[in-house]
Amino acid sequence: MSKSLCVAIVGLGRVGNTLAFLLKEIGYHIETVIGRNSQQTIKAFEAWQTDYFTLTSEPSWNFPLPDLLFITTPDNVISNIVSRLATYKTDLWQKTIVFHCAGALSSQILLPLAKLGASVGSIHPLKSFALPIKSITEIEGIYWCIEGDERAKTFAEHLVKLTKGKSVAIEPNKKALYHAAAVMSCGHLVALLDLSLKMLIECGISQEQAKEMLLPLIEGTIKNFATKTPSQALTGPFAREDYQTVNQHLQALKKLPEDYLTVYSLLGRHSLAIKP
Ligand SMILES: NC(=O)c1ccc[n+]([C@@H]2O[C@H](COP(=O)([O-])OP(=O)(O)OC[C@H]3O[C@@H](n4cnc5c(N)ncnc54)[C@H](OP(=O)(O)O)[C@@H]3O)[C@@H](O)[C@H]2O)c1
Repeated sequence: MSKSLCVAIVGLGRVGNTLAFLLKEIGYHIETVIGRNSQQTIKAFEAWQTDYFTLTSEPSWNFPLPDLLFITTPDNVISNIVSRLATYKTDLWQKTIVFHCAGALSSQILLPLAKLGASVGSIHPLKSFALPIKSITEIEGIYWCIEGDERAKTFAEHLVKLTKGKSVAIEPNKKALYHAAAVMSCGHLVALLDLSLKMLIECGISQEQAKEMLLPLIEGTIKNFATKTPSQALTGPFAREDYQTVNQHLQALKKLPEDYLTVYSLLGRHSLAIKP
């Protein structure tokens, strides 16, 4: 495919805007944005100055079908958007490759558009976006998980290379598990660190100091994880089979809300399974 492809993006939030910045930097033409009638979307449209701006709520649409269409709305509305798109220019979808960026969903959700001749795939950046990223230099080196039909997968690999990223292909039926793994290393890790932080606060240490105390410990753990196997990186009473200390921990944790003991015990059980 040539470089000056025309792009339409449905949903100009964190990922939609990120893609718009990256694709523009690559040299593609952001031709159409489609969104709800919200302040944020109208602001995004004004910023991008695209040729076409369409509201999902409009009874009739007027935009050309693009070479690439990205659906970057929240996951729970993708299916509705696809149903609506599948009623539009029904005989012209053969040239379009449609992607969504949801971590847990496969391209199966895009089937109504595949039936009209579009190529379909999912392309998920393994990164947490609190805000849109504005240039390839801010995102290079990350992994993108890709899945879909052959044309979509080949194009996704090409796109990932252009953003200086790395791609990994997985089977559609593994997407939920893949995404659950990502959540364990991102959101759940933060939740775990929050429990640890609150335990130190319970010891009478200020939140600020507790965070300062934990950071070198966390950094050392990540460094060990990066350079060793999980079994070699595991330290502490579970690695040493020091059950007397573990028992003291359990007694102390019983005085806190139930979650603390549950999380500690479950992770302890897994530590015993992986210890050297
Ligand atoms: N954020 C991340 O870290 C991240 C990472 C990887 C993948 N993803 C995936 O990327 C996709 C987008 O996530 P996001 O974080 O960018 O979401 P977001 O920031 O909440 O943006 C979603 C956008 O979709 C629009 N929208 C909501 N409902 C709509 C509808 N019915 N019709 C049209 N537009 C609608 C919203 O517009 P309004 O202004 O009207 O609300 C908003 O612009 C999701 O599939 C998500 O799983 C996210």
